[in-house]
Amino acid sequence: MNSLPVARPLRHVVLGVTGGIAAYKAAELTRLLVKEGISVDVVMTRAATQFITPMTLQALSGKTVLTDLWQSGAANAMGHIDLSRGVDAIVVAPASADFIAKLAHGLADDLLSTLCLARDCPLLVAPTMNVQMWNKPATQRNVAQLEADGIEILGPGSGSQACGEVGDGRMIEPEEIMAALHAWAQPKSLSGKRVLLTAGPTFEAIDPVRGITNLSSGKMGFALAQACAEAGAKVTLVAGPAALPTPASVTRVDVQSAAEMTAAVDAAIDSTQVFIAVAAVADYAPTQVHPSKLKKGNSAMTLELQPTVDILGRVAARPKPPYCVGFAAETDDVAENAEAKRRKKKLPLLVANRVQDTMGRDENEVTLLDDKGAHPLPKMNKLALARRLVAEIAIRLSGLG
Ligand code: CTP
Repeated sequence: MNSLPVARPLRHVVLGVTGGIAAYKAAELTRLLVKEGISVDVVMTRAATQFITPMTLQALSGKTVLTDLWQSGAANAMGHIDLSRGVDAIVVAPASADFIAKLAHGLADDLLSTLCLARDCPLLVAPTMNVQMWNKPATQRNVAQLEADGIEILGPGSGSQACGEVGDGRMIEPEEIMAALHAWAQPKSLSGKRVLLTAGPTFEAIDPVRGITNLSSGKMGFALAQACAEAGAKVTLVAGPAALPTPASVTRVDVQSAAEMTAAVDAAIDSTQVFIAVAAVADYAPTQVHPSKLKKGNSAMTLELQPTVDILGRVAARPKPPYCVGFAAETDDVAENAEAKRRKKKLPLLVANRVQDTMGRDENEVTLLDDKGAHPLPKMNKLALARRLVAEIAIRLSGLG
């Protein structure tokens, strides 16, 4: 087995803070970074110190906050160079219009801009400014220049601004910056690929208020959709009823029943290179949906059910199927039942787990089954597992696995 693609390390970052009202959010961002065990060196511009004190960020980062090119404390007076060596990334959040303009032109007239110019590590910036400033051709030119220079732009968001105006230019929230940072760090192993997933339970109506469903939360499928998008894929997620937010950059198609899920998959499958069926699709649906609410009677009631379409089985049986990945949640004899399922559905890869280990939980422990045998993976949270599965799929797709 060839080695799996690995994520960029995120152990030590420089957090640059520039002048803007969103500077107060740098406190929360510092806290979130530290909470994840990431070492943070904060560097503030003079303008930033007008919005939040260095002491706040020093208390949260546990390190001296640097603000001055001439007081960086390095014995060799090369603080601006030393600081960026050995860090995994410089993140400037918030990045003002003025600072973005400086970066675009290679100006270096304070510690942070000098540090950015002297860096030998990746640079990510989260813009913050008034909507009119963001929309100005000069800003758009500068941002395009930063992108052309390989600098990662995080956001901006849209919405109401501190100045009272509404539109683009708001710094994305610290949680979103964290998510964007982790997404950026993932290897782009599915770049250019179209991935279609099913997730969640289905709901098979009996009458207007009742139906048959199951305990699937959709967490594993949504985590996989996120991991595929982070890996650079164009992702469509066909979701049964699941109260989960749509992962960034994922196109979501909401459905209720197995029949609707089948139709949504049929509509998207032609352009798909990878199909991952995570949904707990009902195997049977009521033959008839009663148009009005069923009334209670005194005798036993019989519900007639008919089998639903096996969505994964049908996709895998296409003359030129996409790379198909199935999930099998079993209560007993997991490995035998799952391998039988893999062969029956003719799948190159099947992820087997115990119902007790996965349904509704945040963690999962799975075994991968492919033509070469069974490969157990350690227990991990569903997002970590999703990223691992993406790496496993990518390496098999490339023919190296
Ligand atoms: N699946 C599907 N369409 C169905 C039923 C299942 O696409 N109508 C997919 C699931 O998304 C999963 C795989 O098939 O990837 C296995 O699902 P599972 O419910 O474990 O197996 P079944 O094929 O339904 O067999 P059984 O219920 O008898 O275990």
